[in-house]
Amino acid sequence: MRAAPPPLAGGTPGADALRPLLDTVLDALRIGAEERSGPLPAGGPETVAARVEALGAVLPETGTGPHEALRSLVRALAAGAADPAHPLCAAHLHTPPLALAAAADLAASALNPSMDSWDQAPAASALEALVTAALAAEAFPAARHPDALVTTGGTESNQLALLLARERQGTVRTVLGANAHHSFHRAAWLLGLPAPVTVPTPHGVLEPAALAEALAHTEGPVLVAATAGTTDEGLIDPLPELADVCAAHGAELHVDAAYGGPALLSRTHRHLLDGLDRARTVTIDLHKLGWQPAAAGLLAVRDAADLAVLGHTADYLNADDDTEAGLPDLLGRSLRTTRRPDVLKTAVTLRALGRSGLGALVDACITLAQDLADLVEKTPGLDLHARPTLTTVLFRPADADDEAVAEIRRTLLAEGRAVLGRAEANGRLWLKATLLNPHATPGDLAQLITLVEGSAHR
Ligand SMILES: Cc1ncc(COP(=O)(O)O)c(C=O)c1O
Repeated sequence: MRAAPPPLAGGTPGADALRPLLDTVLDALRIGAEERSGPLPAGGPETVAARVEALGAVLPETGTGPHEALRSLVRALAAGAADPAHPLCAAHLHTPPLALAAAADLAASALNPSMDSWDQAPAASALEALVTAALAAEAFPAARHPDALVTTGGTESNQLALLLARERQGTVRTVLGANAHHSFHRAAWLLGLPAPVTVPTPHGVLEPAALAEALAHTEGPVLVAATAGTTDEGLIDPLPELADVCAAHGAELHVDAAYGGPALLSRTHRHLLDGLDRARTVTIDLHKLGWQPAAAGLLAVRDAADLAVLGHTADYLNADDDTEAGLPDLLGRSLRTTRRPDVLKTAVTLRALGRSGLGALVDACITLAQDLADLVEKTPGLDLHARPTLTTVLFRPADADDEAVAEIRRTLLAEGRAVLGRAEANGRLWLKATLLNPHATPGDLAQLITLVEGSAHR
């Protein structure tokens, strides 16, 4: 007799099939986190890889069954995670996802709508249209027809921004600061565009006079890429002044607000993004300061008409007669074909927390960064690079050279004690704390400082 196929996640029986499996998953997550106990596993790459290899065959001849497979692999991944929910895991723009967003993501997986045609995603595509319109209006409040595309993150959004600029202007050259994200260089390469002109940013931001000087010496159509939330320092380029320079030189402006964009939702900090709406396109990631599991990227455009160039027909997905008959044409909403309904977790989060709830989370993390900066300033023997703007704090032991700073970071990683990043500023290497965990406490920050001091004086 043939064995019945494993149960499916969807349909009426899906929920009952999922429930016992979820119990196993949730137990394995908890047990794995207890086993790890810190922000990451101790022992470094070889120890961690050996534990994963010890799990046995990846493709056994006879399977181990759903509960064993979930239990062993989820537990191993949790035990071996660099877990951003741990307050001492603060290196990157690596967010601790909200439980409610992760729960919504499970529903997205169970239903598995694919966002490339209406007949695979009837309600999900309608929801995406509403959410993208609402978020585009946050970025471009005065625009008549703003819109936004859902992307896999800042890298894809920046690439799309360059593509749209190329389609509007022809062979366009990107002019950006040395503080801009590396993805622009790869995007220009991928799109066959000239290599970007990089303007030095000795103070961490793209300065208007330096931009004006670069534009005066750059031939042909230009897209200026400014940053609202730099990866290394969390700084925001002076957007209104940069927009003035762009206007004076007939250059278009893109703002990479992958990091800082969600500050639009904070009443207290929204002003940091003044001038953002003068861009033609804006990158915003909700898997950074928006507490979504990856991926939750957006590219907002001031004028929806700019997206028309992405229109594309594949008869099995959006035949002309289907479109004329009223079936929404989704293929032009992305360069991808099969596409997860990443918008569901975002929609759930926006509704559950509201603007004030999300704004409060942004505010809490900005306050944490100020607290950490205070603590560094009060600690003899530690140098603070600068007061933070968003949630990034650079600091280092005053008496350490760059090699010693890099070694402190690696020691903390190897011992499984803390995950800190690294960044160069003012020609020196700094430890970087990117604070995205709204549950972190002043006590956690003090512990971080103690760990750094302890590693520095071995
Ligand atoms: C300023 C900025 N832009 C873009 C990106 C790329 O985002 P993603 O990793 O989601 O592609 C990052 C990533 O950290 C970033 O810091």
